[in-house]
This record gives sequence, structure tokens and C-alpha cells, in this order.
Amino acid sequence: MDLAGKKIVLGLTGGIACYKAAELTRALIAAGAQVQVVMTEAATRFITAVTMQALSGRTVYVDQWDSRVANNMPHIDPTRDADAIVIAPCSADFLSKLVHGSCDDLLSTLCVARPAQVRLFIAPAMNVEMWQNPATQRNARQAAEDGITLLGPAAGAQACGETGMGRMLEPADLLEELVCAFAPKVLAGKKVLVTAGPTFEPIDPVRGITNHSSGKMGYAVARAARHAGATVTLVSGPVSLPTPAGVHRINVQSAQQMHDAVMATIAGQQVFIAVAAVADWRVANASTQKLKKQGNGSMPQLRFEQNPDILAAVAALPAGPYCVGFAAESENLIENGRAKRERKSVPLLVGNLGPSTFGQDTNELVLFDESGHVTLPAGDKQALARDLVKEIARRLALAPSSPAAPAASAKEHRKRTA
Ligand code: CTP
Repeated sequence: MDLAGKKIVLGLTGGIACYKAAELTRALIAAGAQVQVVMTEAATRFITAVTMQALSGRTVYVDQWDSRVANNMPHIDPTRDADAIVIAPCSADFLSKLVHGSCDDLLSTLCVARPAQVRLFIAPAMNVEMWQNPATQRNARQAAEDGITLLGPAAGAQACGETGMGRMLEPADLLEELVCAFAPKVLAGKKVLVTAGPTFEPIDPVRGITNHSSGKMGYAVARAARHAGATVTLVSGPVSLPTPAGVHRINVQSAQQMHDAVMATIAGQQVFIAVAAVADWRVANASTQKLKKQGNGSMPQLRFEQNPDILAAVAALPAGPYCVGFAAESENLIENGRAKRERKSVPLLVGNLGPSTFGQDTNELVLFDESGHVTLPAGDKQALARDLVKEIARRLALAPSSPAAPAASAKEHRKRTA
């Protein structure tokens, strides 16, 4: 789970977007977080403490004189073991209070009294004119300068009937930003190019040859790399998955298009991760018009020609990126994975028992490098992607071209995987 064990104080302030805080609470809990809700009086006009208590499974605090907290310090206790305070929605008034250090209710006092390591995130939510007001803009800039992380706002239709900036981010988007904020930044400042999904090789304008790759693993890798601080470009074959937040996606169909898109963007990338299931062959005599059934029962005769090997082409680039290949094998994973890594001349090859995991949410990965192989604990594809990104970052730091290659860790690494 993306936020396993994280303790979050969720603060609600007065705004119609309080209705979204109910869903956000559920999403945070589903992601493994513990949620302690604190509301301002104004927030209780929009959604009840009873609703928030039922969803969070914890007593909701509103009053700074609430004596239910054991030592009678509701403005101190909730943040002492918290990882973050998230104010969603954050009204214009509450933003102003934060910036000025006001302590005239429980939530504002909690924010001012939080320990330095407890990060403060705010999701502004207000009418477009309120957001654009110079005072609010000044407060937003000051909040950012004070180390408060602003999540949004977004633009669009508003509950008041007006349109513009000021909508609170959707709960799923807020969750994604929080997950990203908590992820260790092991690829900070790196540029990473990922291929994902199947390719589609046309036979005629309506038919083609493709495979069962769903793109889930590649998309999970792109998402994990972005969470790790990288600037990520995703070259994707045809899949029905949403683009991970913050990732630049380039859509392609055929292997040749994927090759061309990769080669056009590879300059300046430090890491290339080829997760796509690329068709080895394309139809050499593809028809520009739809093939019709012949009355005499004769079948179309397809001829094939070789597609470019994208991974091999990138691996052969002088001073190219650190290359990671994937291999979906239906048998002899260890033997085939080891041989494929050498054949493709890549420092790291990730093997899995492919066809059975296509489209599934779980997978098992075996990592092959120059020292041997190591199996990552089986799990869901996102957790595996996170582990894989850590493994890549560690190897990248050890790679010969990397300026920060500590010799001791290299020895340790060999011991671990031999
Ligand atoms: N790959 C690629 N371009 C191709 C074929 C494969 O970039 N034309 C990449 C895949 O994205 C993957 C790795 O190479 O990272 C291995 O793909 P796979 O299909 O398992 O390898 P092949 O070389 O095609 O070997 P096989 O004969 O097993 O199909």
C-alpha cells in the first residue's frame, strides 16, 4: 500500500469542497494511512463531524478546549507522531491565518504547534475571485516560501456557478501527490525514458497483430520513477490506462513508431527502461485497403520482416543511458534471462514469467545483472515497480560512468547477488 503506516492529520476548513474530504479520507485509509480528522467550526457547516468520524474511525476534534485528549492538549498531541498535516479544503481565510501564524482555533493552533519534521500540505479551495485576489495570491506565495506545500488548486466549473482557478484537486489527485511527496527521491534530477504496452503491427487499415501486454507493469514503473524524483517520458503502445500524473506520454502503435519515438527522445536521458512487449516482426506486405474475402476461398499471404530492436539500439549508443530490459519468458526463466541480458548487452535485465502475468495486478520479478540474479519479493505491480526503481537507482550510482560510485557498496552489492 502506497501510504502504509503513514499518520496524517486531515484538517477541514469552511468550504463546499468539504464533501470531497469524505472521499479523500477513504482513499487515504485504503492506501494504508491512519487519518486523524480535525475540523474548524466553519467546516462543520458543510459536513458533519459524525460523517468524518465514521469514515476515519477516530474521534474528530473541533474545539481547542476538547478535554477528551488524554492530557487535555488537543493542539499538541495529534501532531507529535504524525507524518503530515493535510488541510483539504483550505479556505482563503485559513490560508491567511496560516501565513500570519494565527492560533485562534484548534486547527490553526495545531499547524503552528507542529514539529518541524511534520510536513504541512494545503489544498486551496475557493471561489475564483477569492483565489485571484492579490491578498490570497500574496498569502499563497508566502505559504510556499514558509515551506508549506500547495496542492492545486485546479481550474474548472465551481459550485458557485462561476468558472476558473480555485477548485480543490480531486481526492485521487491529492492522494497521488501525497504518495509522491512521501516517496524517497532516489532518482532526483534524473531523466528516465520508459516504453510500455504492446505494439500493433497493421495487416490492413482495420486489422493488425498485437499481444496481450496490458501496459500495467510499464505504467507502474513510470509512476514509481516519477515518485522517485525523476523526469519521466513514457512511450506507450495502445493500452487503456490513464497516464500517470506528472509523466509525459507519447503514444505510438507499431514497433517502428516506438523505435522512432525513443530515438527522438533518448538524448539527455540517464535511464532507459524497456518494458514494452515489442513485436519482433511486422507485416511486410500490409495492405493500404481493407483485405476482402476472396470468393474462391484463397487466404491472404502475409510476409514478415524484422522490426528494429529498440533496446539493443539504445544499448549500442555511445555514452547512452543506463539500460534496463524486461523479458517475459514462458519457461526456463533463469537460463533465458541470463542469456538475454548478455545478448542485449544491458547491465540489468528484469525477467518474469510473462504470459501468465499479462493483465494481472501482481507479478514476480527476477533481476539479472553482471553479478548473478536476485528475486524481488512477489507483490502487486506498483510495489514491485517501487522496489525495481530502488534497485535501478542503486546500480546507477555504482555504474562506471556515474561520478558517485562508492567502492565499498560495489563489493557489498556483489556479495548480495552472487
Ligand atoms: N525489445 C525491444 N525491441 C524489440 C524487441 C524487444 O526493445 N524489437 C525489448 C523489450 O522491450 C524488452 C527486451 O527487449 O525489454 C526483451 O524483449 P523480448 O521480446 O523478451 O526479447 P526478444 O529479443 O524479442 O527475444 P525473444 O526471442 O525471447 O522474443
